[in-house]
Amino acid sequence: MSLKLNTKYVESFLPEDSLNGIRPEVEKAHESLCSGTGEGSSFTGWLTLPETYDRDEFSRIKAAAAKIKKDSDVLLVIGIGGSYLGARAVIEFIKSQNYNLLRKGAPEIYFTGNSISSASINELIEILGDKDFSINVISKSGTTTEPAVAFRIFRELLVKKYGEAEAARRIYATTDGSRGTLKELSDLKGYTTFVVPDNVGGRYSVLTPVGLLPIATACIDIDALMEGAREAMHDLSERDVCRNDCCRYAAIRNLLYRSGKKIEMLVSYEPAFTMMNEWFKQLFGESEGKGGKGLMPASAIFSTDLHSIGQYIQQGERDLFETVVIFNEPKSDITIDLEENDYDGLNFLAGKKLSYVNSKAFEGTVLAHTDGNVPNIILEAERMDEHNLGYLIYFFEKSCAVSGYILGINPFNQPGVESYKKNMFALLGKPGYDDRKDELEKRLGIR
Ligand code: PA5
Repeated sequence: MSLKLNTKYVESFLPEDSLNGIRPEVEKAHESLCSGTGEGSSFTGWLTLPETYDRDEFSRIKAAAAKIKKDSDVLLVIGIGGSYLGARAVIEFIKSQNYNLLRKGAPEIYFTGNSISSASINELIEILGDKDFSINVISKSGTTTEPAVAFRIFRELLVKKYGEAEAARRIYATTDGSRGTLKELSDLKGYTTFVVPDNVGGRYSVLTPVGLLPIATACIDIDALMEGAREAMHDLSERDVCRNDCCRYAAIRNLLYRSGKKIEMLVSYEPAFTMMNEWFKQLFGESEGKGGKGLMPASAIFSTDLHSIGQYIQQGERDLFETVVIFNEPKSDITIDLEENDYDGLNFLAGKKLSYVNSKAFEGTVLAHTDGNVPNIILEAERMDEHNLGYLIYFFEKSCAVSGYILGINPFNQPGVESYKKNMFALLGKPGYDDRKDELEKRLGIR
């Protein structure tokens, strides 16, 4: 198995026999998911995707990535939420947080359309300068405001630079196969399109064209990524939930939640994992946080954050636990040299690898935090490569779905996301929403 669940630092926090106690609920949740009888089951296409994915679409993705590499200095990826987090997380984890500085033979990649910040868009226009660029606009619904606004701005820039026909050849739209404004516009203008499968929701879509086109453009091995996910699909289909790590993880986090641990912090000792943390927070937050229930997903990078929120974790409110993802092999290593005068007092580390020091930071922290009453779930992966990451992505997706069913919610919808949109549209006077404009302005005291 490419990922091991180590429960050594959480077991003492679980009430005696509680894992056995919750077992029928976990079995039921897993069964509902696998048999497609649970709530939201029309959005479980990602479950079998590592085997059933569309091979033709996969080849088209590789061809599009090759064309972008050839004719563009920059790829702009326009999308929000599940339509950008996965791609960015994979690129930064496999390549680097400094991808745009270190890339070799691949275009720079910038993610936009994930906020409404004019400063951020203006900055990107400045970065683009007169560089050759292409756009991958990603929106399953095809109607989300943030990416739609950014797409309008950058599409105009593209048309101004290249003219209508060439601009159309530089736009790749990843959207629904038959519906939505973006699909209609793409058909009208003749953009190359990729399909977000009907049965895969945004936050479960990283292994569809949503994630794969930007990832392939960054020269990442998407075959290996899918292969890792495929291995996970097999390992984690085990019906005996006691031998299925994603079910055990889902069970433990629900037990901790029931015992008053309301916050789960995803932790890594690798800064390259920062965006994976963000991806995880969206996956679990949007899937579970509903009906007045759900763990609040939070995150940290250690040892960096041991010097910021580390104090809180050690001694603050005792309502959190940590899930720590560790990698047994670093991407690269450094040996600390011996210095004759030992001015900095570091000769006790001479000859040691930095990865060894990092592993001792982990061991010291896991003991300190568990002493401080913070349970630690450990996920151990071998390497920081595509295969292991594909496995980890699938592991989290399936754990999230099983966990949501144990919690008694539908992990595949996000009704709460509409609330801010409705208010924003009303305040902006969007037709169909503007009847609430007066009322909202009164509440805000601007009328
Ligand atoms: O997980 C989800 O469904 C959401 O986070 C969506 O990905 C996000 O809202 C973007 O939606 P769309 O791809 O329709 O623009």
